[in-house]
Amino acid sequence: MTEMTPVPNSTTDTATAPKAVPALPDAQTVTDVKHYTDRLFSFRCTRPASMRFRSGEFVMIGLMGDPHPETGKVKPLLRAYSIASPSWDEELEFYSIKVQDGPLTSKLQHINVGDEIILRPKPVGTLVHDALLPGKRIWFFATGTGFAPFASLLREPQTYEDYDEVIITHTCREAGELTYGRDLIEALKTDELLNEVIGEGFWKKIKYYPTTTREESPKMGRITDLMKSGEAFEDLGVPPLNPASDRAMICGNMAFNLELKDMFEEYGLVEGANSNPQHYVVEKAFLD
Ligand SMILES: Cc1cc2nc3c(=O)[nH]c(=O)nc-3n(C[C@H](O)[C@H](O)[C@H](O)COP(=O)(O)OP(=O)(O)OC[C@H]3O[C@@H](n4cnc5c(N)ncnc54)[C@H](O)[C@@H]3O)c2cc1C
Ligand SMILES: NC(=O)c1ccc[n+]([C@@H]2O[C@H](COP(=O)([O-])OP(=O)(O)OC[C@H]3O[C@@H](n4cnc5c(N)ncnc54)[C@H](OP(=O)(O)O)[C@@H]3O)[C@@H](O)[C@H]2O)c1
Repeated sequence: MTEMTPVPNSTTDTATAPKAVPALPDAQTVTDVKHYTDRLFSFRCTRPASMRFRSGEFVMIGLMGDPHPETGKVKPLLRAYSIASPSWDEELEFYSIKVQDGPLTSKLQHINVGDEIILRPKPVGTLVHDALLPGKRIWFFATGTGFAPFASLLREPQTYEDYDEVIITHTCREAGELTYGRDLIEALKTDELLNEVIGEGFWKKIKYYPTTTREESPKMGRITDLMKSGEAFEDLGVPPLNPASDRAMICGNMAFNLELKDMFEEYGLVEGANSNPQHYVVEKAFLD
């Protein structure tokens, strides 16, 4: 990894490092931070003028690590993050976990407006419309922070141009972990720009299906179990997925991804990729 000058700490180094002149070529400035639970927060930052990406992709972001105990040199500490904002947004948004002993997020959770983060502007990923064949209905399946790429795709006009129905399922342990997603979907209803660009009432295509597994909420259970029993399809008023009409994107923990993949193979859906568009695509929400 390349060694670089530390990102200035906005609270201590502002006199020596004016905000208009970032100390790193890949530094971006934080413009907004929101905390949801003791384990979840979101933030927005400036976007490099030349950076293009497809809604649903991820990038490497991070902070400078601690100085090496002997040499004092510091290296960037980077992790993969789905871009939660859509491709047209002039800023970038991220939705993040706070792992108390996590090398990056133990620090990242303390960022404030005006601080700088490192962002490598090389987006990649499989959760993109290009990796799917045309269909009637798109399903987004998320657990935890796996909602992030769908926060991007739910604000992407192409999602509504390509599909008649958009179903988003989000399974979390606790009810508070659903707040970011619920607020985002609610805000689409009054988003003047999107209603104008995509068409008034575009959000009526969305069917939102949040579930919790360890705290009481209106719908409890893992989405996989709710699909196996048929309850989810009954609640949503749609038939089980089939290759003729349904397309799907999955982003969750490894066990969730694998379980859904097995179920999809039974439905007759084939996994796609950027180079080979098919019926569904999968990405890990984090490495275990
Ligand atoms: C393709 C991809 C996209 C990702 N997108 C996001 C994203 O949009 N938002 C996000 O918060 N993280 C995302 N991650 C995870 C992210 O890269 C880091 O793992 C996370 O920020 C924690 O970093 P850390 O250095 O603090 O801890 P790490 O050392 O990276 O992780 C420590 C442990 O914490 C747990 N953990 C890590 N990330 C998560 C998570 N997101 N949810 C629940 N438990 C977790 C795991 O058990 C892991 O072993 C993504 C990972 C991949 C591979
Ligand atoms: N969320 C918390 O409050 C919390 C608190 C402290 C530590 N942690 C740790 O953080 C890590 C990640 O926790 P997380 O809650 O973000 O993510 P997670 O463990 O991946 O769980 C997120 C959601 O996915 C569900 N799920 C797990 N496997 C599934 C499968 N095969 N099919 C369908 N649904 C599945 C979980 O249900 P189940 O509940 O049924 O597993 C839960 O509702 C874990 O190591 C955990 O121990 C989490």
